[in-house]
Amino acid sequence: MGIRVAVLLLVVSVSLTEAAGCIPTTSPWCYKNSTLPEEDFMCKWDKRNPKENQTHTLFIWDSEKKSLIMCANSGDHSERYIFLEELGITSRNMDIWVQTQVGNLTCNSSKISVILECLVKYSAPQITRMKRSAGTLSLKLDKPKDSKSVKYEIRWRERSSEWQNATFETEDSTSQDSYKLHLQKQTIYHIQLRRQAKLQPHLCKDSLQTLWSDWSPVVDVPLEISLPLVRPLVEQWTNGTRHINLTWDEPSAEESVGGVWYKLSVNVWPCEKPKRKEKPTLDRTYKTSITYSEARISIIATNKVGSSPPREIIIPAVKHLSNCDKPSNITQDYQTCLEWYKLENGETRPSTVNSSGKKSFKDIEKGVEKFVRHYYFLHIMRKKHLQTVDMCPFYSEQGAPIKGPGNVNISNVTHESSVVSWLSIPVAEQRGFLLHYLIWISGQGNTTLHEVQANETSFKIKNLHPGTSYTVSIAGETMAGKGPNSTVNFETHSEEMGLSRQDQTILIVCVVALLCTIICSVAVRRGNRRNRYISAAP
Ligand SMILES: *[C@@H]1O[C@H](CO)[C@@H](O)[C@H](O)[C@H]1NC(C)=O
Ligand SMILES: *[C@@H]1O[C@H](CO)[C@@H](O)[C@H](O)[C@H]1NC(C)=O
Ligand SMILES: *[C@@H]1O[C@H](CO)[C@@H](O)[C@H](O)[C@H]1NC(C)=O
Ligand SMILES: *[C@@H]1O[C@H](CO)[C@@H](O)[C@H](O)[C@H]1NC(C)=O
Ligand SMILES: *[C@@H]1O[C@H](CO)[C@@H](O)[C@H](O)[C@H]1NC(C)=O
Ligand SMILES: *[C@@H]1O[C@H](CO)[C@@H](O)[C@H](O)[C@H]1NC(C)=O
Ligand SMILES: *[C@@H]1O[C@H](CO)[C@@H](O)[C@H](O)[C@H]1NC(C)=O
Ligand SMILES: *[C@@H]1O[C@H](CO)[C@@H](O)[C@H](O)[C@H]1NC(C)=O
Ligand SMILES: *[C@@H]1O[C@H](CO)[C@@H](O)[C@H](O)[C@H]1NC(C)=O
Ligand SMILES: *[C@@H]1O[C@H](CO)[C@@H](O)[C@H](O)[C@H]1NC(C)=O
Ligand SMILES: *[C@@H]1O[C@H](CO)[C@@H](O)[C@H](O)[C@H]1NC(C)=O
Ligand SMILES: *[C@@H]1O[C@H](CO)[C@@H](O)[C@H](O)[C@H]1NC(C)=O
Repeated sequence: MGIRVAVLLLVVSVSLTEAAGCIPTTSPWCYKNSTLPEEDFMCKWDKRNPKENQTHTLFIWDSEKKSLIMCANSGDHSERYIFLEELGITSRNMDIWVQTQVGNLTCNSSKISVILECLVKYSAPQITRMKRSAGTLSLKLDKPKDSKSVKYEIRWRERSSEWQNATFETEDSTSQDSYKLHLQKQTIYHIQLRRQAKLQPHLCKDSLQTLWSDWSPVVDVPLEISLPLVRPLVEQWTNGTRHINLTWDEPSAEESVGGVWYKLSVNVWPCEKPKRKEKPTLDRTYKTSITYSEARISIIATNKVGSSPPREIIIPAVKHLSNCDKPSNITQDYQTCLEWYKLENGETRPSTVNSSGKKSFKDIEKGVEKFVRHYYFLHIMRKKHLQTVDMCPFYSEQGAPIKGPGNVNISNVTHESSVVSWLSIPVAEQRGFLLHYLIWISGQGNTTLHEVQANETSFKIKNLHPGTSYTVSIAGETMAGKGPNSTVNFETHSEEMGLSRQDQTILIVCVVALLCTIICSVAVRRGNRRNRYISAAP
């Protein structure tokens, strides 16, 4: 009953004022930007009829002291700063309303009854950093203006589903506010936050008065970014440089929401300074040129919620040569870089690599460890690019091998030949450049010697006597001399063991003839039997 009367009265009063040409504004909302005591206030309201020429006056009435604190004309603006000096006290209950004047008519908005000190509205929070990892989204947020402990509300949703929400509070002291949200699904999320001041509890008991900040803009949360799969394409040029064309895969759409960046570094250590590059999302290729020495490339992908671990790629040095000529002469006009290292197993570059921009090959040649294979590259600077002009293995002094070839083995033995095979002597045990292998074959008091190229690992021994024992000794030889023998014994087959081609042919002919005879005789007998049945029939 009471409500109906109130509604009726409202309708009547509205229609009366409307008829009179003055429409009141909304009731004002007033707040300050932080809990700081020196903060000024702001009151705002909405005009209901913006076309009319109207002036607004803001009234603040101390309802405890029953006195008018201020009435401030704001012209036709719909907001008004209230300076602390105008107010004096902010911790008492006040009535605030807006009077509107249109022509010679005035009308009042409805009143709000508030304690101004409790009206704090922070700026919307800003997400300064997001990191998504193992089902957790870690957020870093800007502090409110007063750096106070704050209450936050966060809401999140998967695409096109309902918002979920949670609240949390932060500490006074931290430099940045932070929060960890659990997001397990492999999907993109939207998130948004707002915050609210924690007010003096004795003054602001009425929780309805606490104001939320505006929501922060909706932010997309992509998936954790995975390692890019990189395909290097290496093209070797004859002028001592190599062209490197790197391309890598596009991350999934879920990972790329909000953009992806790549950090790339190419390190052709030790002669070139590392090249670093940060690339935006679209371009997933990188081209550069490097010398013939080893290059290390590392790529990190970063999206809005974190970075992938680095993807490391090694582009090995142009295959180490096993022997070559002494370096060619370099004129003094070029800037050079000499690079050298131990190459103990002939293939792998060690972790210590020496380099010098001043020394020449001659300076280092005699200084390195004796009997150990070393490798050098000589790069020169031409057209602002380093290019490799020489690369070779070298020894300061060569020695004889300290081991014979391994796994010496005899196979394919016949009455007159056999094959000897072996494993090449490891580079560390060659102690010099292997010139060739020496193979001695002794049997029946006779020894023959063969020289076999250093890159070979088997040799066919011919012209042997049947049924004879032989000893094979094999050793490597360098400039400095022969190494120790590896020895193996074997015996050739006796001649009778095999049938000659001619014998085999005769045997096959005999077998075929025998088979024919048997088949023919069986067929003849069957034919005779059938004839007998036919003649017995009526
Ligand atoms: C609150 O902060 C905003 C943005 O810094 C500013 O425009 C506004 O005038 C401030 N309001 C008050 C009441 O100080
Ligand atoms: C609005 O009112 C002011 C004075 O109150 C007057 O100077 C002005 O001409 C009026 N404007 C309109 C559009 O009526
Ligand atoms: C208000 O102004 C209107 C004209 O704008 C005039 O007709 C009317 O008499 C005035 N009323 C009073 C009470 O002054
Ligand atoms: C609006 O409020 C003021 C101040 O309380 C009062 O003087 C005036 O009569 C009110 N006007 C209306 C139309 O209610
Ligand atoms: C989530 O939002 C609803 C509706 O706005 C609200 O009633 C509820 O209190 C909120 N929950 C939390 C934990 O903030
Ligand atoms: C090496 O040759 C290629 C083409 O053969 C050329 O593009 C490149 O610029 C050359 N590099 C240098 C350092 O001269
Ligand atoms: C680099 O490689 C990609 C794919 O392997 C190819 O499409 C592109 O044309 C190459 N660019 C150059 C300059 O070789
Ligand atoms: C290098 O220079 C030296 C003297 O400067 C000369 O004797 C030698 O023949 C040159 N070698 C080559 C490969 O040009
Ligand atoms: C040994 O004999 C087999 C079969 O007769 C042949 O395939 C193989 O190549 C021979 N091995 C050598 C090292 O000649
Ligand atoms: C030793 O080898 C030579 C040449 O192959 C041969 O003529 C001679 O008969 C061999 N001596 C013996 C004892 O086999
Ligand atoms: C060894 O090198 C020679 C040329 O120097 C080549 O003809 C031969 O095929 C090589 N042998 C092997 C087993 O690589
Ligand atoms: C290896 O064997 C051959 C033939 O038996 C022999 O002449 C040579 O002295 C041996 N070498 C070593 C280092 O024992």
